[in-house]
Amino acid sequence: MPDPITPVLTKRWLSPNSWRLETYERLEGYTAARKALAGTPEQLVQVVKDSGLRGRGGAGFPAGVKWSFMPPNFDKPHYLVINADEGEPGTCKDIPLMMADPHSLIEGCIIASYAMRSNHCFIYVRGEALHCIRRLNAAAREAYQAGYLGKNIFGTGYDLELTVHAGAGAYICGEETALLDSLEGRRGQPRLKPPFPAAAGLYAAPTTVNNVETIASAPFIVNAGSAWFREMGREKSPGPKIYSISGHVEKPGQYECPLGTTLRELLELAGGMKDGIPLKFWTPGGSSTPMFTAEHLDTPLDFEGAAEAGSMLGTTAVQVFNETVSVPWAVMKWTQFYEHESCGKCTPCREGTYWLAQILERMVEGHGTAEDIDTLLDVCDNILGRSFCALGDGAVSPIQSGIKYFREEFLALCEKNKAAQPELVGAQA
Ligand SMILES: Cc1cc2nc3c(=O)[nH]c(=O)nc-3n(C[C@H](O)[C@H](O)[C@H](O)COP(=O)(O)O)c2cc1C
Ligand code: SF4
Repeated sequence: MPDPITPVLTKRWLSPNSWRLETYERLEGYTAARKALAGTPEQLVQVVKDSGLRGRGGAGFPAGVKWSFMPPNFDKPHYLVINADEGEPGTCKDIPLMMADPHSLIEGCIIASYAMRSNHCFIYVRGEALHCIRRLNAAAREAYQAGYLGKNIFGTGYDLELTVHAGAGAYICGEETALLDSLEGRRGQPRLKPPFPAAAGLYAAPTTVNNVETIASAPFIVNAGSAWFREMGREKSPGPKIYSISGHVEKPGQYECPLGTTLRELLELAGGMKDGIPLKFWTPGGSSTPMFTAEHLDTPLDFEGAAEAGSMLGTTAVQVFNETVSVPWAVMKWTQFYEHESCGKCTPCREGTYWLAQILERMVEGHGTAEDIDTLLDVCDNILGRSFCALGDGAVSPIQSGIKYFREEFLALCEKNKAAQPELVGAQA
């Protein structure tokens, strides 16, 4: 059994009424914001840079570096936007964090907004998570009443408004520029970059978009220091991380561990494979990250470790599948999701995901041929790197990795179909 770390981000989650201000204040709440506002924005950016904190929304961009891109002048308002869309299949860490400890996110918003000279912060939450929107609004009301939000916070002269915004529930609205369009009241579709949000983001003003877990990490770094943060995790991927384990394990849930923890260790924490049925395949960070197999049980799950083994850390949404699951069937379900969620702006993704879903459905229904496997890979080649945003790249991950590790299973499905339906194969020839 690995030594789980002393919880950081999740340390208040089991306290009674953990979401209330009085609980938060009793457990060090808002001490980091007070400390942060006593210093300068530049000092804060430096502390976060030194900590090595990397974005927890999927791409892993260093948070302090991103914050430093915000211009130092005030020609236009500056905005901080929190990405709480959480749409990646398997990802379920941000909503539990906001439900259990909403004030840690709000305190992080105060720190990050001050560091980026922003006086207005938005939290963009997916519309279906109504319970979460209610909880955040209640926490924001408490923070306003206590003087942590609004005018002249801690008597420092610093003002901050916080708006909780309900999205309408589209996966593409998690892509940061589509999110900004949606926040402005438009249909959520990705924008051309450059300009990047730090130059022209929300309402064409300097904007930083960060994930919930990234911003909720800031109060801990401010209070305990960047050296403390670096004691956890690995050199290039420091800090604690919430791994969401779902699927065929005995105890699915959120497990906070240092970055670099392996699936073998996570499985021990999660009580092992459900009913002892062996592992077949798994995703390290949601369905957009190429799948792994039992060969990768000891791969360190940090940004570098996952990439070296041929996948990505993504959102650390670890979806575990046992031997009873058909890979072509699972790949088809994921592909149907991407087809449905493709925003339609660019041809490779709009048309490609449609054809990928058609072919996979045909295969799983029993009408596929061995050539379909090559056609699938060909269509993937025409989407990967040729799409307008990363949704297209993510859509091909399950297919390419599924065929890489389980080609025989795709082939066997086609062979079985051929044997069962000789007249159909004859007609196609
Ligand atoms: C299709 C798509 C969906 C995304 N969904 C989310 C999401 O739900 N939450 C999130 O934080 N980032 C999401 N991202 C990544 C964001 O574009 C962006 O990189 C992230 O919010 C930056 O925050 P971070 O630097 O703190 O990680 C998505 C990206 C793509 C391409
Ligand atoms: S890759 Fe897909 S989701 Fe992204 S812009 Fe193109 S059509 Fe829209």
